[in-house]
Amino acid sequence: MGRFKNKVVIVTGGCRGIGKAIVSRLANEGAYVYALDYVLPKENEVFIEDESIKALIKCIQVDVTSESSVNKAIEEVLNDKKRIDILVNNAGITRDNLVLRLNEADWDAVLNTNLKGAFLCSRAVARTMMGQRSGRIINIGSIVGSIGNAGQANYSASKAGLIGLTKSLAKEFASRNILVNCVAPGFVLTEMTDKLTDEQKSSFLGNIPLKRGASPSEIASVVAFLASEDSNYITGQVIHVDGGLAM
Ligand SMILES: NC(=O)c1ccc[n+]([C@@H]2O[C@H](COP(=O)([O-])OP(=O)(O)OC[C@H]3O[C@@H](n4cnc5c(N)ncnc54)[C@H](O)[C@@H]3O)[C@@H](O)[C@H]2O)c1
Repeated sequence: MGRFKNKVVIVTGGCRGIGKAIVSRLANEGAYVYALDYVLPKENEVFIEDESIKALIKCIQVDVTSESSVNKAIEEVLNDKKRIDILVNNAGITRDNLVLRLNEADWDAVLNTNLKGAFLCSRAVARTMMGQRSGRIINIGSIVGSIGNAGQANYSASKAGLIGLTKSLAKEFASRNILVNCVAPGFVLTEMTDKLTDEQKSSFLGNIPLKRGASPSEIASVVAFLASEDSNYITGQVIHVDGGLAM
């Protein structure tokens, strides 16, 4: 515990699902965590129950697809804490359809959120991390970015793009000791996957050697590893956390 004491962390899409688990895990280990999300929890809704951890977490409204919204949120963090140690680009959406029925708006929405959003947030923290000569950027990809998926051309393309972004940033930032990696989950039990039909869920689960979906905390623990000193010599990598789905 206390591994991330005094570290300043930003997690996009941090108020729900995998993002919330990452926020909770890093705050539990002592970090100040800024959960940047489009939809913030209602005022009285309990975000994280433990009072001592709650004090380490601040939610800021942001739309990762908007340059001005992203820059404003990052500025707010910098005004507060003067540094940024870890950025987790986790905000993501799906707008699934077979290609012949996939409209331009759904293509753009997914690419803008999942890929452009990660670019805008990474660029917004880069100068600060370069000045510090240290930083970690962790992109939350998806296994379908590596293997594709029928009905998810937009989503798969956005997640494949994140792999290219991860490797390019890793090369561009390495000399400043900023490590950039990607965590690619398979099937995780969140509201995002809750909307899949039972047939889609069982087809996914049938192909997973471990025969179950991941909990959000099982993704958060890999993010914590990549955010920690235990991974000081890892950059530009994609780590599949998928119960063996792709191998
Ligand atoms: N659930 C899965 O099985 C699974 C599998 C692989 C990858 N992922 C990836 O993990 C990440 C989190 O997924 P999840 O299952 O927790 O999803 P989720 O839908 O439960 O949560 C996504 C969060 O992102 C936020 N968000 C969406 N658009 C935003 C925007 N424009 N600006 C700011 N915030 C925005 C949402 O408000 C929400 O809080 C996503 O990038 C997703 O693609 C999920």
